[in-house]
Amino acid sequence: MNISLEGRVALITGGGSGIGAATARLISQSGGAVALAGIPETEVVAVAEEINSAGGRAIAVITDVSDSGQVKESVRTTVEEFGRLDILVASAGIQMHREDLELHQLSEDTWDRTHDVNYRGVMLTCKHALAQMVEQGSGGSIVIISSITALTGTSANVSYLSGKTGLLGLNRYIAVHYAKYGIRCNAVLPGALERTPNHDLHLDAAGREEKLRARVPLGRPGTPEEIAPMVTFLCSDAASYATGGQFVIDGGNTII
Ligand SMILES: NC(=O)c1ccc[n+]([C@@H]2O[C@H](COP(=O)([O-])OP(=O)(O)OC[C@H]3O[C@@H](n4cnc5c(N)ncnc54)[C@H](O)[C@@H]3O)[C@@H](O)[C@H]2O)c1
Repeated sequence: MNISLEGRVALITGGGSGIGAATARLISQSGGAVALAGIPETEVVAVAEEINSAGGRAIAVITDVSDSGQVKESVRTTVEEFGRLDILVASAGIQMHREDLELHQLSEDTWDRTHDVNYRGVMLTCKHALAQMVEQGSGGSIVIISSITALTGTSANVSYLSGKTGLLGLNRYIAVHYAKYGIRCNAVLPGALERTPNHDLHLDAAGREEKLRARVPLGRPGTPEEIAPMVTFLCSDAASYATGGQFVIDGGNTII
C-alpha cells in the first residue's frame, strides 16, 4: 500500500517532540506540507528545520493550544503559508504526574491546567481547524491523540484520565456531525511509550518502565515512531471509510 499525501496540508499540535514530531516526519515523507504548532519554540523550530533540510515543507507556529486566539492564528498562518488545510493531528498534551494523590487530595490547579491543554486545547484546535475545512469545502481528516488511559479506571492520574476520556466523546461528535462535510475524525489511543509528556517530572520513571516490561504482552513500552504510521494512515485516503474509530496501539496492554 502506498500512502500519498501529495498536495495535502497538515496542522500538527505538539509537533516539537514525541508522536507529533514522528507524525510530522512521516506526513512530510508521504508528500504533505506540515505546520508544527506547539511549544517550546526551540523544539518546534528544530523539527521544522530538520524536515525542511530533508527536502520537505514545514513551518513552525509557536502556539499554546489552551489559548483560543493562538490556535486560531496557527490555522490562519498555515493557510497563509500553504494555501489550505486538509489534516489536523491533535497531539499536544501534558501529564502533571500527580499519581501520588487521590482525587480528594488533588489541587484544582492541576485539574484545570491538565484539562485546559489536554481537553479544551483539543476542542479549540478542532474548532478552528473545522471552520477552515468547512469553508474550504473539500473535506478533511482529523486525528485526536487520546490514550488507553481512557478505556479503564485504573490510572491514578484522574485529571489525565478524565480529559483523555472526554476526547473520545469529542471524536464521536465530530465524526457524526461533520460527515456531511466529508470530514472524518478518529482517535488513536497509544499505550505507554518510552517517554511520557513531562517525562522528567515523573515520580518514578525507572519503576514505570520495569512494571511495563513485566505487564505488557510485547514486553516493552512503545515508541512515537510506532504510533505515527497509524496516525498517517488515518489522515490519508487509504482510510476513507474510517471515522469515529478508536484505534488502540499498546503492545497488548489493555487486553490482559
Ligand atoms: N507517551 C505516552 O506514554 C503516551 C501514551 C498515551 C497517550 N499519549 C498522548 O500522546 C500525545 C503526545 O505525547 P508524546 O508521548 O508525544 O509526549 P511529548 O511530551 O513528546 O509530546 C507532547 C507535546 O505537546 C507539547 N505541549 C505541551 N503543552 C502544550 C501546549 N499548551 N500547547 C502546545 N503544545 C504543548 C509539548 O511541548 C510536547 O511537544 C499526548 O496527548 C499524550 O497525552 C502519550
